[in-house]
Amino acid sequence: MAHKVLILNGPNLNMLGTREPAIYGATTLGDIEANCKAHAKGLGLTVDFRQSNHEGKLVDWIQQARGKANCIIINPAAYTHTSVAILDALKMTDLPIIELHMSNVHAREPFRYHSYVSPVATGVLCGFGADGYIMALDAAARLIAAQTSKQNKK
Ligand code: DQA
Repeated sequence: MAHKVLILNGPNLNMLGTREPAIYGATTLGDIEANCKAHAKGLGLTVDFRQSNHEGKLVDWIQQARGKANCIIINPAAYTHTSVAILDALKMTDLPIIELHMSNVHAREPFRYHSYVSPVATGVLCGFGADGYIMALDAAARLIAAQTSKQNKK
């Protein structure tokens, strides 16, 4: 069975393509989802790609990932900078977690410098636009392969 990567997207990312294109580019979330699914196929992975504007929905999805997904890629969007609830939900998963941002949050307003998610992330990617999703999938494939080889040695 193919390993599964859960890709979660937070608020306003459904507006990609029209939302602040100078920062986020012209690619829509639908385009990103299609690109992720095609790229994942080449890596032998399946992708469950979701977006919500609601914090509790994202928390539900993180809780449900336990035992179902092999890695979580999350662009928590604005909740990155505010959400203890998402941090606590992520703490309960024993999965590798990749925190992803399209923009370089460290080159923007100071309120974007702090992330509640980073302390529990395996790694953080930011500043590569829509390509970041592809890079995150490559990282996920490597993390899952490392975990699988560790388990096989047990
Ligand atoms: C974002 C960066 C966040 O600061 C912002 O609130 C977003 C998107 C990014 O992908 O660059 O909504 O996560």
